[in-house]
This record gives sequence, C-alpha cells and structure tokens, in this order.
Amino acid sequence: MIRKLLFVLAILLLIIQLFRPEKNIATTVSTNAIEKHYTIPEDIKGLLKTSCYDCHSNNTVYPWYSKVQPFAWWLDNHVKDGKQEINFDEFNSYTAKKKKHKLDEVVEMIEQDEMPLRSYTVIHTKAVLSPQDKNSIIAWAKDLQKTIK
Ligand code: HEC
Repeated sequence: MIRKLLFVLAILLLIIQLFRPEKNIATTVSTNAIEKHYTIPEDIKGLLKTSCYDCHSNNTVYPWYSKVQPFAWWLDNHVKDGKQEINFDEFNSYTAKKKKHKLDEVVEMIEQDEMPLRSYTVIHTKAVLSPQDKNSIIAWAKDLQKTIK
C-alpha cells in the first residue's frame, strides 16, 4: 500500500516538473523605474536590489531550485503577490497618493521585520538587513515621501 502510494507520488512529482511558470525577467528597461525619477543613494539602491528586488521588480534572480517544482510555483506566487503590492520598476506609474502610501508601507514592513519575507532570508542570507540597513532604508523612504507632491 505504502509503496503504491509512493509510486503515485513520484509520478505526480515527475508530471508537475513539466509545468513551468513564466519567468519574471523583463526584456526591456522600464521607463517607470524608481531610480529614473527619484534620487536613490547607491547604498540604498544596493540594499533594495539585494533584499527586495527579487519580488518587487521586473527582474528576479532565480535560484537553482526555481527549476524544480513545486518550488517554482511557490516562488512565482511570491513574485506575483509582491509585485502587485509594490513594484519598484513601475513606481513612477503610481499616483502621488499611492506612492506616498507605498512608502509608508515600506517603512512599516521594515520596522516590523515583515520584509524581506523570512522564508526568503532563510536561503538568501545576504538579504538580511542589519539594524543600520533598516534605519537607512526607513530614513530614505521618509525623505523621499516628503519630496512627492
Ligand atoms: C521573497 C519575496 C519578497 C521579498 C524578498 C520582499 N518582499 Fe515585500 N512582499 C512580498 C509579498 C509576497 C507581499 C504581499 C503579501 C504580504 O504582504 O505578505 C509583499 C508585500 C510588501 C509590501 C506591502 C505590504 C502591505 O502593507 O500589505 C511592501 C511595502 C513590501 N512588501 C516591501 C518590501 C521591501 C521594502 C522589501 C525589501 C526590504 C521586500 N518587500 C522584500 C514578497 C517579498
């Protein structure tokens, strides 16, 4: 009985390997990217790229296990949900009100240690933000918010 079950499971695992979610890799550079419209100090840009862009931009750097299902689906969902919330590569397409609100959320997420997602930092240890990194991002987001009319 157990062997039959394992066999069926193995077959299912093989079958789901045939499904590949489309990758989040842009072929063109977005004209609405945040850095094209607002100044972002290099250190902040670096932090956002390492800790946030895999889920909040038009370009994800895919790890090897993204080639294996069901991880690919799991990653794909994070990217889809993340981009829907805030996409730094489309930031300038938001209304002023939305931009300010999203920056509030950035501050909130970092203060509460909700972003980057813990399930992500377990593997991407480089994405972990130090207390100093957090303070710099928060200060930057608050400053930027003041410049948006
Ligand atoms: C592994 C993917 C991933 C990474 C990395 C990541 N996020 Fe997210 N983010 C998500 C997902 C998924 C959501 C939507 C669901 C949720 O709120 O948990 C989200 C939601 C958000 C939201 C909206 C939250 C709200 O108020 O509902 C903000 C703002 C945000 N992320 C900012 C960031 C910032 C800033 C970073 C980097 C420091 C970051 N995220 C890194 C996946 C990610």
